[in-house]
Amino acid sequence: MENLMDKIVSLTKRRGFVFLSSEIYGGFSSCYDYGPLGVEMKNNIKKLWWDEMTKMHDNIVGLDASILMSPKIWEASGHLTAGFADELVECKKCHHRFRKDFLEKNKCPDCNGELTEPRKFNLMMKTFIGPVEDEKNIAYLRAETCQGIYVNFKNVMNSMRLKIPFGIAQIGKSFRNEITPKDFIYRTREFEQMEMQWFCRPEEADKFFDYWKNERINWYLNLGIKKENLRARETPKEELAHYARKAFDIEYNFPFGWKEIEGVHNRGDWDLSNHSKHSGENLNYFDEKEKKYFYPYIIETSVGVERSLFAFLCDSYEEIIGGRTKTTEAKKEKEIVLKLDKKLAPIKVAVFPLVKNNEKIIQKSKEVYKMLKTDFVCFYDENDSIGRRYRRQDECGTPFDITIDFESLEKDDVTVRDRDTMNQERIGISKLKPFLEEKLKK
Ligand code: GAP
Repeated sequence: MENLMDKIVSLTKRRGFVFLSSEIYGGFSSCYDYGPLGVEMKNNIKKLWWDEMTKMHDNIVGLDASILMSPKIWEASGHLTAGFADELVECKKCHHRFRKDFLEKNKCPDCNGELTEPRKFNLMMKTFIGPVEDEKNIAYLRAETCQGIYVNFKNVMNSMRLKIPFGIAQIGKSFRNEITPKDFIYRTREFEQMEMQWFCRPEEADKFFDYWKNERINWYLNLGIKKENLRARETPKEELAHYARKAFDIEYNFPFGWKEIEGVHNRGDWDLSNHSKHSGENLNYFDEKEKKYFYPYIIETSVGVERSLFAFLCDSYEEIIGGRTKTTEAKKEKEIVLKLDKKLAPIKVAVFPLVKNNEKIIQKSKEVYKMLKTDFVCFYDENDSIGRRYRRQDECGTPFDITIDFESLEKDDVTVRDRDTMNQERIGISKLKPFLEEKLKK
């Protein structure tokens, strides 16, 4: 679709999904705020991922480690050395800076000026612990959540009496001082990761790698991402991250091209062996059968909450030129529908009184809203024509709109409109909750 990126940016602001951070001060450093609908949708994504990992799979437990950790962790992990750095070049004329690997030519893409020689630029975000800002007090905001999992490997395994293979899942904020954050919420300096680390025997690593790659692709397909917009790409050896033996990117066909939304990595014993060496605490595993110690291999699945949200929004955006709402006042220009999977939709049900000037209809509508709002994310709207209200909710991806009309006063029922088919059916108010529960489960 032409200009899909601009359309998504505009819709997400208009409908309260994503706002530019510090907007009244001109924005700040590619940071974004998630509005009322954005936060609901992010929470839905996180809950679906968490349940998928911890409920739908055996032997996966959760963790919530701190963002600030000992700087020694980042030495051991390789993040403070050249391993976690991008090559930065600067234009000698306009002084704009770029990641070298993002450039197609050896000239500045903004002014065609000459570029400096590349230099390494570490991506870790620094801060200070305590009042004295000197070398000794430097700390880092974590660049990936998984390091908190590795250093807690023994704590989790022993407290939960786990035997390999097992997994540890975590959701939390990560920070990277990206040289060129870009493409709206695709690449930012602050983002949230959902990471699962699967600890297994080295000889089983390839088998589990394939297993997790397929599981993760299916997660997106089951949540409605179109097959033709998703692909898995093996990372060429020269592009592998410093910790990875093998990696697959799950890529989505964004308006700006095929880009990674999730990485599946075979990290081998890089993390457990390095943390053992640096900390002096042996993070190995005792094989009771063979009576020997070894470092389990780690298969990692890692996805950004915002990147997946962005992919879900792009994939579900539809425009109907000429309009599809058959109300007389509709201008029949263009209607927008977000055909989000019901489980992802931020608002599940909207409640509308047909008219604003009838006390009884308003009262009944408020009763219905009150009855539903503790079970479903619900939105009450009595402003503008019913057609406009439908269209507003279609843009938000709301699966069901409920209208209370004159007949409702006599029959104690409502009409329920389906976002995708626009079919309307009358449902008795006493049956409304189970009806919606059933529909939203699918
Ligand atoms: N623990 C492994 C790891 O962090 P990664 O490929 O660097 O691997 C994993 O990142 C995922 O985190 C990416 O696929 C992406 O979804 C998300 N991510 C990474 N950097 C990001 C950024 N600057 N902005 C938004 N999301 C990011």
